[in-house]
This record gives sequence, C-alpha cells and structure tokens, in this order.
Amino acid sequence: MNKKYYIKTFGCQMNVYDSQRIANILEGLGYGQASTPRAADLIIFNTCHIREKAAEKVFSDLGRINLIKQERAAEGLDTIIGVVGCVVQAEDEEIAKRAPFVDFATGPLTYHRIPEILAKVSRRRGISIIDTDFPAVAKFDYLPENKASGGCSYLAVQEGCNNFCTYCVVPYTRGAEYSRPVGKVVEEARRLVETGSLEINLLGQNVNSYHGEDENGKERNLAYLLRRLAEIDGLKRIRYTTSYPADVDDDLIACHRDLDKLMPYLHLPIQSGSDRILKAMNRRHSLADYLKIVDKLKQANPAIGMSSDFIVGFPGETDQDFAATLDVVRKIEYIQAFSFKYSRRPGTPAAVMPMQVEEKVKKERLDILQDLLFSYQLKFNKQSVGKIMPVLFETKGRHSGQLIGRTPYMQNLHAELGKENLNKIVNIKVTEATTNSLSGKAA
Ligand code: 5AD
Ligand code: SF4
Repeated sequence: MNKKYYIKTFGCQMNVYDSQRIANILEGLGYGQASTPRAADLIIFNTCHIREKAAEKVFSDLGRINLIKQERAAEGLDTIIGVVGCVVQAEDEEIAKRAPFVDFATGPLTYHRIPEILAKVSRRRGISIIDTDFPAVAKFDYLPENKASGGCSYLAVQEGCNNFCTYCVVPYTRGAEYSRPVGKVVEEARRLVETGSLEINLLGQNVNSYHGEDENGKERNLAYLLRRLAEIDGLKRIRYTTSYPADVDDDLIACHRDLDKLMPYLHLPIQSGSDRILKAMNRRHSLADYLKIVDKLKQANPAIGMSSDFIVGFPGETDQDFAATLDVVRKIEYIQAFSFKYSRRPGTPAAVMPMQVEEKVKKERLDILQDLLFSYQLKFNKQSVGKIMPVLFETKGRHSGQLIGRTPYMQNLHAELGKENLNKIVNIKVTEATTNSLSGKAA
C-alpha cells in the first residue's frame, strides 16, 4: 500500500507555499495525502518562530502528535515525525531536548533535502537528524515542478531579509535576501496557470526588494517581473506580499496604474505611526515617507485599498507613540490589517532594550487598536454592499451549495453557488457585510 503524508502548517503564507513544495517532493516519492495525522506514515510540522506564542504552539502540538505515534505503534504501524521551518532554524537544540521523538528536523532553506533525509531516517530509526546549514545553493533549483492545487496559488520569488528590524527573527531564520531569476519565476507561473491557477500571489519577506536576474543576466525589479507576468494568457489576477515601504519605487507604483491584472489591494506594513519607535525598530522609513507612498499609490490607482501590520508595546512605546499609531489608522482607513503585541524574541536587539512594556498595557493598546481597525474594515465592507464584484471561489462553504471566495480586495465572500463554480471567477452582487466577510448572489 502507498505511504501517506500529513503536513501541518503554522505561520505565514511563505510557509503555506513551502508546505505545497514539500507535498510536491513527497508525491514524487510515491506518498499520497492523508486526511488526518492518524492515517499518516509521515507527519511533518512546518513551523513558525515569529512570535513566542507561535513557537510554543509547535511544541504543545508536537506532544499531541507523539501520542498518535504511540497509538499507531501499538497497532504495529511506523510513523516518521519531521519538523521543518523557522523553529528548527532558531531552536534545533530545543527540539532535540523537548521533543526527542522527532525523527528529523530541517530548516526553511534546506527542505529540498527531504528525500535524502528520509532515506537516512528509515535506515537509522531512533536517531534524530537535524539539518540547519544555510546552503550556498538555492533550494528552488532542487525542487520538483510546482503545480496549481486550486484557482489561487502562491509563488515565492524572493526569500530572506537584510533589513534587521530590531524585533524580528526573519533575518536569522530565513537568512540573507535572495531573489529567484526572472526566467524561473515566469516558468513556474506559466505552469501554475496551465494547471488551473487564475490568480498568483507573489511571495517574499520583502517581495518589493526583488532584484532577480533576467534571461540576459540583467538585474530586474519587481515592477519588471509584474509586467512580464501580466503577459501570461489565462492569468487573471496578480498580487504580491509582503512589501517594505522604503523599497516601493515609482516603477512599482506605475504598475498599479497600468496593469489591470494587478489587484487594487496592497499590504504595506507600517508597524507604528511614531517616528521615534520606527527608528528604534530600525525601519528605514518615517511616517511622512509612508504617507507619501500611499498618496502616490492612490494617485496611480484611486481604487486601491491598503492593509498593514502593526506592533503595539514595542520597548519604550509611550501613550503618545501609541496615539500616533491610532492617528495613522484614521488617516489611511486600512481596509484590513494584522496587529500584534510585541513579543520578545531571544537574540534580537529589541529583546534586551530597556523599558519593556508591561503585558497589561500591551493588551489594552491592542484592544483599542483592533477596535479602531475593525471599524474601518466594517466601514469598507459595508460600502461593498450593492456592488458587483468578480469573486474567485476557492473553497466549499460549511453547508452544501455554498462556496467561499475572495474579492479583488481579499474580502472573504460567501455565496449560494454550485460547485461547478469552484476555481472560477464569478460576478457577484454583494448583499450583506460583516467585519470579516461578505455575502452575495450571482449577478
Ligand atoms: N513581535 C510582534 N510582532 C512581530 N512581527 C514580527 N516580529 C514580531 C515580534 N517580535 C510582526 C510584524 C511583521 C509580521 C509578519 O509579524 O508586524 O510585519
Ligand atoms: Fe522582519 Fe523587518 Fe525583514 Fe520584515 S523587513 S522580515 S519585519 S526584519
């Protein structure tokens, strides 16, 4: 019988992409997908280290997976447990100590070695293999071809980060910035479209600092890449995430004016509205720089909706600094946002800064910020009522006859529609709106 795998993904969209690529590898080795971990011969956790909570969740869930491994062993079934991703890069020794039942662990830049690792694991049972070297080669060159698993696909074009924001682990876990060559990206995008993707979301920790080489060895920016991808017949929608404000250039802004396929939604994290805090965070932009970029984007495409990440309670953040963050939210009227309490990450400069903010204050500030963010999100969603929007349906809803999709603005939309509309773009008249989703009918 065929062996089965189960992958559990924690964290960001890059991890979702990596899990898809790991699935490609495993399917190439003859593994089939299991619908539950209990049914899997190989269980892989793709982990996130960005905040303490995310990393702790990995360890508690691993404990549960060990119970499954023991239950299966009692039935004479072998289970291999692998951990991949950013927790491995940052805490390999912790994994060996706290989860000794893990058979192998490999970092986010080394998962292309899973076939070799699996061969070793099955020869030497009981011995954990940990592999976290930052390779000199790009893993992408060693991965099997990607293919669409639905109408909407992720495509990693850039990985790693050289920015070293003082709170962030990414430069340590994902390493130095690397851009994939233009030709390879276009090739992967074509293949995704040929196998059913209508929408591609280009990924990178700093996707707009993309500087991959084209077919003639010339370095190209993200704007060039977007224009090349927009030429692909059959590709209907393009997005890119996550961007760094200081790296938004005029070329990129022009794409928001010129390219119909580029969705009118941009996730551009500001983190804080206070220049003092932005400086302490080592961000290379001020509040004024950020506002100017948003202005230019709105001139290029007045329909654009903005999204952001925010951190509250960064060391030294005063009530006044926090008020500046609320001000920027009122000014931009974000249509969606992610907001977090600052989490102290060992090894980052901010972890040892004086004037750490009390947990209680962080929580109060997060509640206030989220109330404000949700009010604008609701306002925007309510304004969508009565409009006709093209929606790409990606999943089935909870009850039969219902599908869930995304509008150009990344809003979730529920509609009563037959499943023949899955992975298609359908014009929908929006009838209702809440903070988190829309409902509508075929127009
Ligand atoms: N604490 C809280 N939030 C963080 N982020 C990154 N590092 C931390 C941290 N130490 C947030 C930032 C980033 C998003 C992906 O996660 O807002 O944009
Ligand atoms: Fe982390 Fe800053 Fe790099 Fe984003 S830009 S990945 S927040 S270091």
